[in-house]
Amino acid sequence: MGVVIGSRRGQGYALDAPLELLTADGLLAATPPGVRGRLEELAVAFSIDSTSARLLAEPAAPGGTFRALFAEYQTGGRGRRGRRWVSPLGRGLCFSLSWTWPAAPRDLAAVSLVVGVSVAETLERNGVPGVSLKWPNDLIGQGGKLGGILVDVAGEPAGALKVVVGIGINLRGSSELSAELAGEAGALPPAFLEDLAGRPLARARLGGELLGGLIAELDGFAAAGFLPCADRWRRRDWLYGREVTVSGTGMRQAGRAAGIAPDGSLLLERDGRIVTVLAGDVSLREVP
Ligand code: BTN
Repeated sequence: MGVVIGSRRGQGYALDAPLELLTADGLLAATPPGVRGRLEELAVAFSIDSTSARLLAEPAAPGGTFRALFAEYQTGGRGRRGRRWVSPLGRGLCFSLSWTWPAAPRDLAAVSLVVGVSVAETLERNGVPGVSLKWPNDLIGQGGKLGGILVDVAGEPAGALKVVVGIGINLRGSSELSAELAGEAGALPPAFLEDLAGRPLARARLGGELLGGLIAELDGFAAAGFLPCADRWRRRDWLYGREVTVSGTGMRQAGRAAGIAPDGSLLLERDGRIVTVLAGDVSLREVP
């Protein structure tokens, strides 16, 4: 599970850092009172395959309410595009939130951008400065990946939509994790919240506040679409002005990242023209 245990001759074994395990009560206590009534369920699993897979398999929460599931450890944590998500026990925050929308809101594809803005702002309020966003849904700090967002949507195009948002955040570093992730081709190195904050962070408090921020932000998005959130996203745009390669289903295009459109799509400057990218994976390009 990635827990680092040291041994000292003649003395025994010790954890390298205190382990603060999450509880539903602890998380709930940190959630704004107005939001508590919106949670149909808030649970913590000690070990689970994937919080997102589990919520996808469960029936949707009744309209207007949310299900939240945190995990201390995931045996099959899922990342975007079939990648895995690795987080040692007690050193990160891994959770998923699910809900139903009676119909697809305007700018549905921008939901992961809205989630990113909400998470970055909550982190900043909790003493984590300098969180940027990499389109479409990575959290970046100190040039590394602080976390990622995974969005699953299920439903009929014209009917109710069930949405599951999964969030994985690296909180406390471990050389084991950095070494394990260093092997992932093309991936950014991991970065850790506590390195940015310069102090230990309380996981339960952060988890509860993240939930509260997300539910409020998602209400706003359902009512008004992405536009009111767009400038807040732009202020954290990590790719802006960088040379990138965008790959998606069967396509690959190079260009300079030029911000986002009002609906949250990526703008790419190619040969002096701006093209719009609705979905894809972006990597930085080495320019000779
Ligand atoms: C990515 O950057 O590729 C997205 C990572 C998302 C990871 C989170 S951890 C909680 C939730 N459960 C999962 O299996 N994945 C998401």
